[in-house]
Amino acid sequence: MDNRLVSIAIDGPSGAGKSTLSRAVAEKLGILYVDTGAIYRTVGLAALRAGVGSKDAEGVVALLPGLDIQFRHDENGKQCMYLQDENVSEEIRLPEVSIYASDVSAIPAVRSFLMEMQRKAARENSVIMDGRDIGTVVLPDAGLKIFLTAKPEERARRRLLELEAKGVETSFEDVLRDIQYRDKNDSSRATAPLRPAEDSVLLDTTEISFDASLQCILDLIKERFGL
Ligand code: DC
Repeated sequence: MDNRLVSIAIDGPSGAGKSTLSRAVAEKLGILYVDTGAIYRTVGLAALRAGVGSKDAEGVVALLPGLDIQFRHDENGKQCMYLQDENVSEEIRLPEVSIYASDVSAIPAVRSFLMEMQRKAARENSVIMDGRDIGTVVLPDAGLKIFLTAKPEERARRRLLELEAKGVETSFEDVLRDIQYRDKNDSSRATAPLRPAEDSVLLDTTEISFDASLQCILDLIKERFGL
């Protein structure tokens, strides 16, 4: 492992702005952005396609040995997800896949199946990695850990805008319900539940703009790593 590499962990609930902020930080600093939610979404999509129930742990685990899941970054730093060599980067964003991803991510065997690919990315690159358990489980030695959050209604409002921009038809109530379902699921599971690492910095973005949140993260990085 290269000691000059930096690892930044960004955890928090769905829709807190982790991915948009992490992407902006990665671009600014020229480091790799790893979206671990996309990896869980890919397993969720595989289960959905196979007609296996999202809570059918045995059925999902039986699929794992046959799954070829990879992520590759294009020349613009965009992470693309591949399932059996098919680019599924768009499809994994569908609301039904969100629910599947949240359910399958509670299965311990799914988490261990995906662990090494996440750690490998941080061994080989300077990364900003976002998810639910990056600071607590995947990269416990990350040099900076941020727990990013915002009120559920505000997260739903932002997520609705994103989905609408993509032409996905949905309503505020449906998006809020999804978010509340996932918050509960992701925080209450036995394995690697969503919670702030003890040494994380808490950042609540309910009342602050994207630009102010970004600046706050960049300041923390500068303070910690001098970047
Ligand atoms: O970040 P996201 O909304 O794309 O993640 C989709 C689901 O994957 C989320 O509901 C919980 C799960 N997940 C996880 O359990 N651990 C991670 N490190 C990232 C995501």
